[in-house]
Amino acid sequence: MDSFIIRGPSRLEGSVRISGAKNAMLPLMAATILTGGQCILDNVPDLRDTRTMMKVLETLGIPSSLEDGVLSIDAASVTSFEAPYDLVRTMRASIYVLGPLLARFGKARVSMPGGCAWGPRPIDQHLKGMMTLGAKIRIDHGYIDAQADRLKGAEVILTMPSVGATVNIMLAASLADGETVLENAAREPEISALAGALRSAGVEIEGDGTSTIHIQGRDSIEPFRHAVIPDRIEAGTYAAAALITGGDVTLENCRPDQMHSVIDKLEACGAEVTVTDDTMRVVGPKKIAPVDIDTGYYPSFPTDMQAQMMAVLCIADGASTIVEHVYPDRFTHVPELRRFGAKITLDGHVAVVSGVKKLEGAPVMATDIRASSALLLAAMVAEGETKVLRIYHIERGYEDIENKLRALGADITRVTD
Ligand code: EPZ
Repeated sequence: MDSFIIRGPSRLEGSVRISGAKNAMLPLMAATILTGGQCILDNVPDLRDTRTMMKVLETLGIPSSLEDGVLSIDAASVTSFEAPYDLVRTMRASIYVLGPLLARFGKARVSMPGGCAWGPRPIDQHLKGMMTLGAKIRIDHGYIDAQADRLKGAEVILTMPSVGATVNIMLAASLADGETVLENAAREPEISALAGALRSAGVEIEGDGTSTIHIQGRDSIEPFRHAVIPDRIEAGTYAAAALITGGDVTLENCRPDQMHSVIDKLEACGAEVTVTDDTMRVVGPKKIAPVDIDTGYYPSFPTDMQAQMMAVLCIADGASTIVEHVYPDRFTHVPELRRFGAKITLDGHVAVVSGVKKLEGAPVMATDIRASSALLLAAMVAEGETKVLRIYHIERGYEDIENKLRALGADITRVTD
């Protein structure tokens, strides 16, 4: 297993190109199952999750190849309808194949995803959506066994605006008979990106980006070519790196218009943020001001930026409160941040971070994608050496992070244990 050794403190300066969004790419890869043809995705990041989803598609009989950010997927001949446990357990988004397999072939056998580092992550809304569209669902030895003659458009009301359930239902509804109205849908930019790709494949979709999405099902869907939007969470992470190190970093190829809630908090901490349509310059302050953060569904402050901002607030000039509303126990990064000398108290889904003068390097353990990026942020400003173990978590969601950080002035090296 590989680790990163980071020596601090450092100050980041320069520019970094933001890669395509993992959470936009994964739904688009699953959408190719609907088409039965050759699809192409541009601006695809080469991540561990990219490779995992390529493996999931391959087990279905769908080969793909990734060259310089261009992913070619040949969905002409599906030979299996099963997404196996050993893949699904490594990446929950594998369950995105459920909707398209059901819609196109009337059957799917997908392993239940199980929990993750921060507790159970149910899929009841995904299954509710499939059943409302007419599927018969059975749970059999940890697998979802789904059958349907032909899915029928219907009104689906989500209990919460689940991103994954919105993806699965949009994909299933695209080949259902008639109109589907999805209420309380997720409003994330990645959902609008998926709708754009489906529209380019001939599907009539309205309302994406709002809480109510209308999808007119079709008998077949054309292969499509679509560019993946920039990753707003990767962008937010590098912006937080500029903030915590008091640096001056320009993000290239990003979408500030999709990051208002993050930019608000960066500025509240004292950062100077200058944006154009596709760039963002972040100049960190001498002293970081404490702020209060409530995570929520888009366009609220993203839960996927909670750990990174907690790392920043560990050295703020005062106390901050972070309330995690989406995943109440998403705090596996707290004990690791405390190892740097951070002062954080937890009470249920509320964290109080009392800023300290400085952090000290220490050996720490990555537990999930965003928690591990938070450890890198703390390590870059801590005095001395930090070793971050289990960096495969980071590689799931951050393309080429060590070279990107090194180019900005971080002292980071990879070691193989
Ligand atoms: C997506 O996960 C993202 N993953 C997550 O990013 C992100 O944290 C999350 O959305 C919230 O924004 C991808 O896009 C691949 P949800 P997802 O369904 O779809 C509850 C990262 O680091 N829920 O929107 O799994 C759920 O427990 C990852 O890139 C149900 O109760 O999240 C949570 O409390 C981590 N039943 C809330 O809804 C369901 O059937 C939101 O979850 C589904 C969800």
